[in-house]
Amino acid sequence: MSLSRKLVLTVAGNRLITSLVSKYGMKLGASRFVAGETLGTALEGIKKINDQGLMVTLDHLGESVYKKKEATAATEAALKLFDAIHERKINSNVSVKLTQLGLDIDPTFCYENINRIVAKAKEYNNFVRIDMEDTPRLEITLDILNRLLDQHGHEHVGTVIQSYLYRSANDCKELAKRDVNLRIVKGAYKEPTEVAFPDKKDVDQNYIKLVQQHLSGGHYTAIATHDEALINDLKSWFDTQKIDKARYEFQMLYGVRSKLQKQLVEEGYRVRVYVPYGKDWYPYFTRRIAERPANALFVLKSFFQK
Ligand code: FDA
Repeated sequence: MSLSRKLVLTVAGNRLITSLVSKYGMKLGASRFVAGETLGTALEGIKKINDQGLMVTLDHLGESVYKKKEATAATEAALKLFDAIHERKINSNVSVKLTQLGLDIDPTFCYENINRIVAKAKEYNNFVRIDMEDTPRLEITLDILNRLLDQHGHEHVGTVIQSYLYRSANDCKELAKRDVNLRIVKGAYKEPTEVAFPDKKDVDQNYIKLVQQHLSGGHYTAIATHDEALINDLKSWFDTQKIDKARYEFQMLYGVRSKLQKQLVEEGYRVRVYVPYGKDWYPYFTRRIAERPANALFVLKSFFQK
């Protein structure tokens, strides 16, 4: 672990800092990355985002769930999101993490929870994206996804593929057989070189390859990155291949590269913002700062690029 990451995590783990940041953190800067602690506040924020022509994927924050009661509460919260989106006529789908729904407690229990959420999405003709977590949870996530596809079809549920993993081209190929709507990301977890490219250049190259592979096969693709060079390369490819803008969307995190998000909308691209909200924002916020050695710099940079 790098020194800067270690430092941020050590400071973030300090009890006094935790209580101070939890109390005042929203004012100090977390509100830049988190759309509020309540659904009401988040919905107001989303309305403003929608008004700028951007779509949203809403994430009710929560993680490290090891009690069934908490996983059930997270499931109920996700179900309510679909009601709220429908009632307020908001342009948003929902992103969830399976560990929040009890994956680490019992995969069968987790399946029951996510199955209810996908059924609700289907009822409203909406969509659930299952975020991808670290590699020990990858196979089980894909197994659960396949069961959901058997049950509900491919229009209401999709997942995420990480370009830092060697196996991703093959996973993409398999999921393409079921016409799965995929979000392509670089990957946010610390993975060993046995499973992941250690070199950023390879991760970026694989990113382009995965997007092109999935789109060339005719499958809807969400391009989730803030990497402008990569976005520009892909835009040129879309032009030469005459890929219809309705067949893909760009995705970025709330509070990151907002200017670029709006610019892409003005150019006629579909853009979706990943909007996290909820009381459990502290780990998400510190991860934005600490998850990668260069993130502290990105955070600083993003303050000036907004
Ligand atoms: P990368 O980290 O390579 O940086 C490239 C360039 O992007 C930088 O030079 C900088 O210019 C710009 N940039 C990046 N971050 C910035 C910031 N915070 N502020 C300003 N500029 C910045 N991961 C995962 O493992 N599972 C998942 O399910 C998801 N889901 C997800 C959804 C969405 C909508 C996004 C945008 C990302 C994810 N991720 C994810 C996270 C993803 O894997 C990755 O860690 C981050 O997006 C950072 O990688 P980038 O591709 O953005 O650029």
